[in-house]
Amino acid sequence: MADAQDPALAEVVLGRPKNPTPDAACRFDHVEEPVTFVIFGVTGDLAGRMLLPALAALYAGGNMPENFAIVGASRTELNDDTFRERMRAALEAFGGVDPEIWDGLAPHMSYIRVHYDDPASFTALGAALDALAAEQHLGGNRIFYLAVPPTAYEDIAVNLAMAGLADETRGHARLVIEKPFGRDLATARVLEQALHTRFSEHQIFRIDHYLAKETVQNILMLRFANAIFEPIWNRRYVDYVSILAAESIGVEHRASYYDHFGVLRDMFQNHMMQLLSLCAIEPPSLFEAELVRDEKTKVFRALRPFSAADLAENLVLGQYASGVCAGIKAPAYLDEEGVPGESLTPTFAAMKVYVDNWRWQGVPFYMISGKRLPEKRTEIAVQFKPVPFSMFREIFGDHIKANRLTLRIQPDEQVSLTFQAKAPGPMCLRSVTMNFNYYQGYEGPQLPAYAKVLLDCMLGDQTLFWRQDGVELCWKFLAPMLGDPDPGRLFLYKAGTWGPQEAGKLLTGHGLTP
Ligand code: BG6
Repeated sequence: MADAQDPALAEVVLGRPKNPTPDAACRFDHVEEPVTFVIFGVTGDLAGRMLLPALAALYAGGNMPENFAIVGASRTELNDDTFRERMRAALEAFGGVDPEIWDGLAPHMSYIRVHYDDPASFTALGAALDALAAEQHLGGNRIFYLAVPPTAYEDIAVNLAMAGLADETRGHARLVIEKPFGRDLATARVLEQALHTRFSEHQIFRIDHYLAKETVQNILMLRFANAIFEPIWNRRYVDYVSILAAESIGVEHRASYYDHFGVLRDMFQNHMMQLLSLCAIEPPSLFEAELVRDEKTKVFRALRPFSAADLAENLVLGQYASGVCAGIKAPAYLDEEGVPGESLTPTFAAMKVYVDNWRWQGVPFYMISGKRLPEKRTEIAVQFKPVPFSMFREIFGDHIKANRLTLRIQPDEQVSLTFQAKAPGPMCLRSVTMNFNYYQGYEGPQLPAYAKVLLDCMLGDQTLFWRQDGVELCWKFLAPMLGDPDPGRLFLYKAGTWGPQEAGKLLTGHGLTP
């Protein structure tokens, strides 16, 4: 047994370095420069549920600069006090807020009423921001967060620019928007033109909240901060990759939006494509926004296009029928409030995709997402090829289960590796799993997903945001699938099941059920 007294021996045998250095270098971001957040649509759901709690978390965590302001802007008639009361109520409703934190945060908040299509409102907004900046030493850095329906994006961008608020002479002026970025390639380009004639690409932050999820960010760390995965992360060793985003919820109260979008536009054009790109990209030379996004763009360009003829073989669309989901009776999609009775909107899709490049030639990527599936589960599985030859064939037969690396993104974040081991006792082989729970052994600070996004906006780091070329390439790739499906090719599945049987056939051997 190695003696830990002997440093050289300890290093070689026990893996304990002679001069231990801290395990990991961490970067805790703190914003120094003053900034003003202007949140349009501040009385809406997104602001109350996500943005306010995120700003409160950043404030509580000491990430905010000393001088900052949160200016609520919406059509509702409010004054600073009623606005603060409303924001406090929102914070209470979504997890509560420490009274001390609230007392510190509240004085930074103010409100101005704005009509999004009225240029005069924006001139008044500009004047109010200048006055606030002078009074509170806020400097000229501004972030305009559009927590409004996408139909208002253009009006707000135009009116901000006309009021001189897109101009960066006094500090940065950043525009933050949420998906959907258009409904297809043509509308994405119209939106792009509307924004780009007023704002430059470096000013536009297109959010994909999946990119802010810890375990999504971890994909690149796992791949490129370890030497053992990358050499086998290619067509020689990988049989297929599956990317699953299952939800047990239905369309909820969002039918008016969802029925125009469906699962392909709602989940695939954005979140699923980002997950695919992170699994497939080449290592950039530096973890830096443009370099990472350049590599993602290369993946999107390499997606093998579908012809209309290929579709039946590579795409299965479904819509949920009534059933029982998580123990509760669930209505059919067509019976959900606000859904037209004859709707052909898919709520489920399974797709087989190829990335045509040297690394991934011949390796299918299966992407599956749907509503009203048995559980909420987002995970990526890298299924490795079986051993090339079984020297145990006389004992166990020819088939030995292959290794599988699973990256669980939610709900319980973990990485697990399944491999074969001898069972204790008799001569049998069994499949065992090595698990790493993402938070195990960690007690440091944490950043909720939206807090990370807002922090990066303040820092001007666009790594976790969509770039327009990626948006357009993904719309282009999905274009052949976006029309209403032929009714005979929209398969019903019972709520609470793993999608239509046809999906099982597409994924043959690569079972959707865990
Ligand atoms: C949103 C979609 O972008 O993502 C929703 O519009 C979906 O339909 C949601 O439910 C899923 O996000 P999460 O973080 O719950 O997996």
